[in-house]
Amino acid sequence: MKSAALAKTNMAYVDEGAGVPVLLMHGFPLDHTMWGGQFNALSGRARMIAPDLRGFGQTPLAPGDAERGVSMEAHADDLADLLDKLAIREPIVLVGFSMGGYVAWQFARKYAVRLRALIQCDTRVLADTEEARAGRLKMAEHVAEWGSGRVAEMMGPKLIAPATFEKKPEVVAAVRMMVERAPPAGIAAAQRGMAARPDMTSLLPTIKVPTLVLVGEHDAISPPAEMKEIADAIPGAKYVVIRRAGHMTTMEEPDAVSAAFSQSIDKLGS
Ligand code: MLT
Repeated sequence: MKSAALAKTNMAYVDEGAGVPVLLMHGFPLDHTMWGGQFNALSGRARMIAPDLRGFGQTPLAPGDAERGVSMEAHADDLADLLDKLAIREPIVLVGFSMGGYVAWQFARKYAVRLRALIQCDTRVLADTEEARAGRLKMAEHVAEWGSGRVAEMMGPKLIAPATFEKKPEVVAAVRMMVERAPPAGIAAAQRGMAARPDMTSLLPTIKVPTLVLVGEHDAISPPAEMKEIADAIPGAKYVVIRRAGHMTTMEEPDAVSAAFSQSIDKLGS
């Protein structure tokens, strides 16, 4: 994977390979590097594009974003803008991971004609409970004083499966470093945006493109049972469970995830 370039939109992204465009959206509080395994495996057969969403990696926030929050719809608009700047007019395969999945629902709602296929990984369709919302707003308020290191401590055990903690210390370290380098202002903006996100359940039966729903067997944030319900509600969706992985499927079991993507890109993307 090459290092990220800043697009004219101010959005940093990596763009590798040729063929069907595949746009991959990272989770919270992560960046485009979470897709390294999938780029290695698939950029020989598809055009893989992974941006840093606003406030993460090398993509800056706009003035006022940290205080106001960046909505999932605003992120979807950024992506449509990026596709315009890249002159990609053909429909894309859209891949969302967790927060990136929340953005993908908005993209699918607003830019349905730009979609060829949808891959939703380790994400949710429901809005937050009051308790979850309050937790997000608390983090948004205090993250500047806490620092991203404390966020890494709070989130780490929820992101990664016990087997990965035991057997893949390099993956644990890579996830931790990614969270630690997330800017506190980006964390605040994203938490406020996610706290305000709507329940998107009513969108599911209207999705017309081929869809893959993928989840880690031990995902503690978007549990398999909930993702199965998402798959069941989308007409014709395929459901894949990644064995041994927790929430961070793409990094914990990159080969299994790439294989599932590969089959879907062949089938969904042509
Ligand atoms: C993510 O991985 O994007 C987050 O866990 C999503 C969330 O906080 O709901």
